[in-house]
Amino acid sequence: MIRNAIMADVPEMHRLITHHAELNRMLFRSHADLYEHLRDFFVCVEATGGGPRVLGCVALELVWRDLAEIKSLAVDEEHRGRGIGRQLVRATLDEARRLGLARVFALTRERPFFDKLGFRVVAKETLPHKVWTDCVRCPLQEHCDEIAMVLDLENSGDSST
Ligand SMILES: CC(C)(COP(=O)(O)OP(=O)(O)OC[C@H]1O[C@@H](n2cnc3c(N)ncnc32)[C@H](O)[C@@H]1OP(=O)(O)O)[C@@H](O)C(=O)NCCC(=O)NCCS
Repeated sequence: MIRNAIMADVPEMHRLITHHAELNRMLFRSHADLYEHLRDFFVCVEATGGGPRVLGCVALELVWRDLAEIKSLAVDEEHRGRGIGRQLVRATLDEARRLGLARVFALTRERPFFDKLGFRVVAKETLPHKVWTDCVRCPLQEHCDEIAMVLDLENSGDSST
């Protein structure tokens, strides 16, 4: 089930993000950062005897009047390739439409995944400077191998969602 994140999800969100960050797939996020930005997050949860287990998470961070970033998209290693990533991104797209945003983007190395959701590659320089604040805490910095991918929500119709 995909739903908005709640405080109790943070330890598992942190575990997921840390796992992928240690493999240089995304940036680390502290518990404090996750609590502060909790309202940006959606999670995919599975009911278990010991309570809900978080299988994936994603954040939609507002950048500007017409633009938001999809960030911290992470799916549990054992559950990759089962459509969870797509469902999480769809939740952010629904939210972006609800808010009246025109575009969302992701900085990513996962081009085939975002291709399938209808995103297109754009030159990084076309995004506002504000987007690059996270680069300061990225170990790659000027050796960045991420590409920028954008989805225009007004034209994306149902094919991407
Ligand atoms: C990238 C990631 C979020 C994808 O989530 P997922 O749940 O494994 O992906 P899904 O099962 O929803 O895949 C949706 C589609 O994309 C395809 N896809 C996903 N990853 C792919 C890849 N690396 N190469 C090619 N196709 C891929 C799937 O095959 C599926 O295609 P289909 O519609 O033909 O079945 C997940 O693998 C992950 O957490 N990766 C590590 C962290 C990361 O890199 N995050 C992205 C930061 S921007």
